[in-house]
Amino acid sequence: MMIHSKLKDYEVVIEDKLEFLSGFETENVQFVIDKNVYCLYEQYFKNIPDGRLILLEATEGNKVIETALGICEDMTEISAKRNIHLISIGGGIVQDITGFVANILYRGIRWTFIPTTLLAACDSCIGGKTSLNYHKFKNLLGTFYPPDKIHICTKFFNTLSERDYKSGLGEVVKFNIMAGADGLDNIEKGIESLLRKEDTAVQHFVCSSLSYKKTFIEIDEFDRGERIKLNFAHTFGHAVEVVSNYEIPHGTAVAIGMIMADRLSVKRGLLNEDAVKRSEEVLMKIIDIDSELLNVDISDIIKAIRKDKKQTNDAMTAVLRTESDLEIIKDMTDEEVSYAVRYFKELYKTKNNMS
Ligand SMILES: NC(=O)c1ccc[n+]([C@@H]2O[C@H](COP(=O)([O-])OP(=O)(O)OC[C@H]3O[C@@H](n4cnc5c(N)ncnc54)[C@H](O)[C@@H]3O)[C@@H](O)[C@H]2O)c1
Ligand SMILES: [Zn+2]
Repeated sequence: MMIHSKLKDYEVVIEDKLEFLSGFETENVQFVIDKNVYCLYEQYFKNIPDGRLILLEATEGNKVIETALGICEDMTEISAKRNIHLISIGGGIVQDITGFVANILYRGIRWTFIPTTLLAACDSCIGGKTSLNYHKFKNLLGTFYPPDKIHICTKFFNTLSERDYKSGLGEVVKFNIMAGADGLDNIEKGIESLLRKEDTAVQHFVCSSLSYKKTFIEIDEFDRGERIKLNFAHTFGHAVEVVSNYEIPHGTAVAIGMIMADRLSVKRGLLNEDAVKRSEEVLMKIIDIDSELLNVDISDIIKAIRKDKKQTNDAMTAVLRTESDLEIIKDMTDEEVSYAVRYFKELYKTKNNMS
C-alpha cells in the first residue's frame, strides 16, 4: 500500500514471516528497538553491528525530549551523517520517540518503522504524527514526519499481552465500523477470528483499517479539516484514559468512547439504534476493564474533556457518526456527556453480570 504525502510518499509492506528482520542492510544503520521486543525476538537481531543498537523501555515516562536527544547524541558518533538510516522496531511509544529523532536529526534522516503492536500497525504507523510528553502534558510536543517505509508482520502480536492486543482491537473495530454498513457486517463476522489472533483475519483487518485511515490523511495530512473526523470516539476516549490514570490503554478507551459517542448520535436522532446495538455487541467483546474504574466521577470526565487539547472553545466539541457520514458537533452539553457515560456504565455492568 502506498501512502501519498506532501512530505514524501511512503510504502506499507506486509511481511508473512519474521525472518525479514534479519534481511536489513546494516551499513550506516542505527537500530532502535523496544527492549521487550528485543528480548523476545533476539534471534532475528544477531547481525546488528556493535554500537548500532539502542534499546528503549516503552514507558510513557520515557516518551520525552531527553530520550530523543539522547538518541540523537548517540547517533552523532556514527561517521555517516545525513545518510544514516534509522530503523526502529516497537509500538507507538518507540514510534513517537524515533519519529521525532528522525525528523530533527540533521533536519531529517531516512527512517524505517516496524510496528510490533496491533495499535501501531493498524493505526499510528501511517499519518506521520510524532508526539512527546512534556511534564504532565501527554503528547504536547510533536511534529509531522512519516517513515520512508513501514513493514508490518502480524506474527509479532502473538506475544502481546491480552491488554495491549485488545487495545489495538479497539482501533481496528472503530475504523471498520466507521467505514459504514459493509464494515460493520465484516467486523461482526471477523471479530471471533480476530480474538483468536488468526493470522489471515488479523492481516485483513489491519489492512482495512489502514485503507480507511489513508483516505483521511491523504486529503488533510496536517489535521486542519477532514482528518479531524478521525477524532471520532477520541473526545470521550481521551477523557476515559485520563480519569483512569492511563490504566485503561488508548484503544480500549477509544472503544468505550465509541459506545458513548454513538449513544449521543442515537439521542440526537443521527443514528439508528439497531445498528448501534450491533456495534456495541462487537465492542463489548473487546472491552475488559477493572470494575473499580466504573466508579469514576462523571464530573471528572467532563473536566477532562474540557481540558483536551483538541477542544477549541467553551462548549464541548465531539465527532459523531451519522447514517452516512461523520459530523463535528460543537455544542455538546454536560448533560449529554453524563447521559453517555451513565449508559456505558450500565451496559458494562449488565453484560458482565455485575450489580
Ligand atoms: N503517533 C501517533 O499517531 C499515535 C497514535 C496513537 C497512539 N500513539 C501513542 O502510542 C503509544 C501507545 O503505543 P502502543 O499501544 O502501540 O504500545 P506501546 O509502545 O506503549 O507498548 C505497549 C507494551 O507492549 C510491549 N510490546 C510492544 N510490542 C510487543 C510485542 N510484539 N510483544 C510483546 N510486547 C510488546 C512494549 O514493550 C510495552 O510494554 C502512546 O504513547 C500513544 O500516545 C501515537
Ligand atoms: Zn486513537
